[in-house]
Amino acid sequence: MLFRKPFPTSSLYSLPSTNTNTISQTLSKSKHNLIHYSTFTLFSFLFLISWLLILFFYLPTTTTTTITTVTDTPKAATCDGSGPVYIYNLHQRFNIGLLKNCENLNIYTNMCPHVVNNGLGQPISTTTTTTSATTATPSWFATHQFIAEMIIHARLENHPCRTWDPSRALIFYVPFYGGLYSSSVFGETNHTLRDSLAVDLVEFLESQEWWKRNNGEDHFVALGRTAWDFMRTKEGPDFGANVLLNMPHVLNMSVLTVERNPWKGSNQIGVPYPSYFHPTMLIQMVAWQKRIREFERPHLFSFVGGKRKGLEKAKVRDEIVKQCSESSECMLLQCGSGGSKCHEPMVVIEVMKNSRFCLQAPGDSFTRRSTFDSILAGCIPVFFSPHTAYTQYSWYLPQDTHTYSVFIHEKDACGKNKIEQVLLNISNEEVKRMREVVINLIPRITYVHPNASDVGFKDVVDVALQRLSHLVGAKVKRFGSV
Ligand SMILES: *[C@@H]1O[C@H](CO)[C@@H](O)[C@H](O)[C@H]1NC(C)=O
Ligand SMILES: *[C@@H]1O[C@H](CO)[C@@H](O)[C@H](O)[C@H]1NC(C)=O
Ligand SMILES: *[C@@H]1O[C@H](CO)[C@@H](O)[C@H](O)[C@H]1NC(C)=O
Ligand SMILES: *[C@@H]1O[C@H](CO)[C@@H](O)[C@H](O)[C@H]1NC(C)=O
Repeated sequence: MLFRKPFPTSSLYSLPSTNTNTISQTLSKSKHNLIHYSTFTLFSFLFLISWLLILFFYLPTTTTTTITTVTDTPKAATCDGSGPVYIYNLHQRFNIGLLKNCENLNIYTNMCPHVVNNGLGQPISTTTTTTSATTATPSWFATHQFIAEMIIHARLENHPCRTWDPSRALIFYVPFYGGLYSSSVFGETNHTLRDSLAVDLVEFLESQEWWKRNNGEDHFVALGRTAWDFMRTKEGPDFGANVLLNMPHVLNMSVLTVERNPWKGSNQIGVPYPSYFHPTMLIQMVAWQKRIREFERPHLFSFVGGKRKGLEKAKVRDEIVKQCSESSECMLLQCGSGGSKCHEPMVVIEVMKNSRFCLQAPGDSFTRRSTFDSILAGCIPVFFSPHTAYTQYSWYLPQDTHTYSVFIHEKDACGKNKIEQVLLNISNEEVKRMREVVINLIPRITYVHPNASDVGFKDVVDVALQRLSHLVGAKVKRFGSV
């Protein structure tokens, strides 16, 4: 079935060994019969497969039964060689215990609707808008941008590369909801109190046998907020950050974060912000990719966002908003004004689906969730700072940045119609080529539904585990020892 309890894993679908014996006996006894039999089997099999393929590709995918038939094929989830990963059993005040206080986890928003469904948030009805595949499990959610840590946790708990035996583990996951914790104490003026949970975490870790083995070099945390929220220094301004990522122990770990510090974050790895699509099956992914590939895109470019008063790194936004509102080729979905729809997932995706290019200007920080919304919508991202993506997501986005994005230096963006001119200058063939690269990136920047196993493609968490395994393997030189 689709959903798998963490344990047991494999034995469910493996054949009892006596069956194999019976088969081999039959084989030696009556070869002739067997040939007949297997020809017949082969034919039936091919026949069945053809029908399934026809059902798959020529019938509208609204028939739930078709999908169920295909995915019901017994298949135990297997680990692809990443890990094994061990999950620390932390006291719940470091993770799910924080959720009891969900209305106070973020000074701007009530997080209660966002932390449900393992952090996916509220399901979105997609009857009018998106995929044609209807299933029992919804695949579109109004996911909060700073909630990746919860989804990663849930995914790993259900991951085939998980081990319950720390002595077998290559990598160790510390399931700390650091982002939720961080935003819950932004307003705490007493630094000792603001840092206390981070300090407690480190105290716990350093007492652990498995920490001591490699000084934490094989440990990692995943944070749903930007690294800046965990890097308070004595000299710098105090905007509410704690000191988690500056603590010597944590510097030995790998830190997955939606925005790394490009200058001081050598142990930090950028992971995509979660967007809204969390499929359980490959067919849903393929259907979505097909749909947006075929979509007419009437707008040359679009911008979803608002201005940022007095923020130097977001100055280009003023220019973007101005140029976009003056251009007939640009669709502007401005945030901040009353009744703005810029936070409604399906409105955002719709605007991006209708655009060939999506402007991604730095805002409160360098990165934006919007970058991943635009990739999901097959819209080519346009960056104005190298730190919005290029110095961030090396595990997820191609090194050759021209293949999937456009870079406009801030100083080249200013002046009447400048952005439009740059984008109009890119040939249709080039646009098509880039869009194809973008569409093919969707699976790896997607967080699949945590209850799904063996979806048939590698998502954010699979890629992270694979890369962490290499990284840790190289660091601790224990390849092959587990
Ligand atoms: C995953 O499955 C479990 C058990 O069937 C269920 O309790 C849980 O709500 C599901 N999680 C999500 C996010 O749907
Ligand atoms: C901050 O909190 C700690 C722990 O409760 C306390 O010992 C300390 O006196 C407080 N510091 C200030 C400046 O209030
Ligand atoms: C970090 O790792 C290095 C090298 O393994 C080790 O010498 C150092 O003591 C570790 N630091 C902490 C705080 O564990
Ligand atoms: C358009 O492209 C040409 C050749 O690729 C380049 O020389 C020119 O500077 C471009 N113009 C703009 C406005 O980007």
